[in-house]
Formats: sequence, structure tokens, C-alpha cells
Amino acid sequence: MSTAIAEAPAESAATDIQSYLVTFIIRRFDPEVDSEPRWVDYDVEMYSTDRVLDALHRIKWDQDGSLAFRRSCAHGICGSDAMRINGRNRLACKTLIKDLDISKPIYVEAIKGLPLEKDLIVDMEPFFASYREVQPFLQPTKAPEKGKERLQTIADRERFDDTTKCILCAACTSSCPVFWTDGQYFGPAAIVNAHRFIFDSRDDAGDVRLDILNDKEGVWRCRTTFNCTEACPRGIEVTKAIAEVKQAVLSGR
Ligand code: SF4
Ligand code: FES
Repeated sequence: MSTAIAEAPAESAATDIQSYLVTFIIRRFDPEVDSEPRWVDYDVEMYSTDRVLDALHRIKWDQDGSLAFRRSCAHGICGSDAMRINGRNRLACKTLIKDLDISKPIYVEAIKGLPLEKDLIVDMEPFFASYREVQPFLQPTKAPEKGKERLQTIADRERFDDTTKCILCAACTSSCPVFWTDGQYFGPAAIVNAHRFIFDSRDDAGDVRLDILNDKEGVWRCRTTFNCTEACPRGIEVTKAIAEVKQAVLSGR
């Protein structure tokens, strides 16, 4: 395993931007070959403005085409490239090389608590099953007035603004120690998405969702460790949202 970081002098005559040789140590797993995951190191020429996602692309394109990971938008919107980078859940496309200590190797592995499929890819189905269970869609009982929108005050909209920002990346849920040990727990992301509708003044199914989350695997499993809030790449106050749902279970919205 190589751990040496060699600083390469400026290479590019066109840009004159300094590049660095950075070591990435990636936890690989091929279910057709490996009985256990294994750590493999790669040296990659990087620029400080590059992201970890760029490193994964260079490894896949130039060194080992078998490396498996998910990504789509590459701009922090689709939520498909959450992974553990130096032990923290982050989006590879939002993690800049300049914000990491490249004097040491950078460790990259799949998020925890979900079944590992291959390399950096996990089976997201248990995560989406919990999401679906909280009924994350608007359920008004009355039709809007003919030709009118369902109006809402600015204050009403503000009530759940934070939780509308979720991109379903699973960084929060897969950083939660309760979720690691109890696969049945709904997890922070499902509660965040329930919150988004529970506190929407246009919705009438809040009590149904609160009832679902009052289950033994619901909000009461949260131990307020704040891992979820720290992990969220959208800056959502996840623990606060969970606390508000707990309060609503106890005393209504
Ligand atoms: S709350 Fe944040 S960390 Fe959790 S799934 Fe949504 S965007 Fe990702
Ligand atoms: S690739 Fe879409 S959020 Fe990172």
C-alpha cells in the first residue's frame, strides 16, 4: 500500500496550475470474486479545485474500469454519490480536494448500514422503503376552488422550508448508529420527508404520518446523536426536524 504523497511541479503549460499526486484508498468489493471487502490504493494526479468525484472518474477511466460507484448530476442535486470520505458521510461531487488533507491518503468507502452491492454501491431499497412508508406526497381532503391554487402564507411555507431541501442521498440515515444496529428504524431521512408534509398547511394526512412514526421503530428510536445533522450535505437541521415531529406526536401540530 502506497502512502507517500509526492508533490508534482506544475505540469500544464496551458494553465500553469499546480497539480498534486494524491493517494486514494478505496474499499473495493466484487461479490463475484471477493468474500470480504478489501482496500486498494490508487495514486491520482489532482488539482485543488477537483472533487473526490473527479478522482473516482480518473481511476475508473485511466486505471481500473471495474471500479463501481453511482453518480448522476455531479453538482450536489441528485443525491446519488453519498459515500464515506475519511470516515465522514459526504457527497463525492461536493467534496473538494483543497478541503482534504492530501498529505495523507484519502479513504473512500460505501455508506454504512445498507447492504453492500459492489465497491461504493449499496442497495438503497431499504432506505426508499422507509421513505415510501411515511407517505411523502401531498394529501389534501378538499379540492381547491375552481381555477385557483392552494394558497399558503409565507409563514406557513416557512414552517417546513428546511425539509423541502432533501435530495434523498441517505447520508443522514447511513450515519445514524441506531440505523446501523436496527435495520427496522425509519431513519432520519424518512422522518425529514414526513416533516415536510406534516407541517404543510395544505396537507390533511399529518395525523396518519404521526401515527406511523409513533411506532416502536419510529421517532422514539432517535437518540439525538446529531450525526445526521452533521452529515447532511444540504445543511438541513435534521435533528431539529426529528425533535419537531416528536413534539407533534405528543402534542399535535
Ligand atoms: S436529510 Fe440531508 S442527508 Fe438526509 S437524505 Fe436528505 S439531503 Fe441527504
Ligand atoms: S452526483 Fe448528484 S449529488 Fe453528487
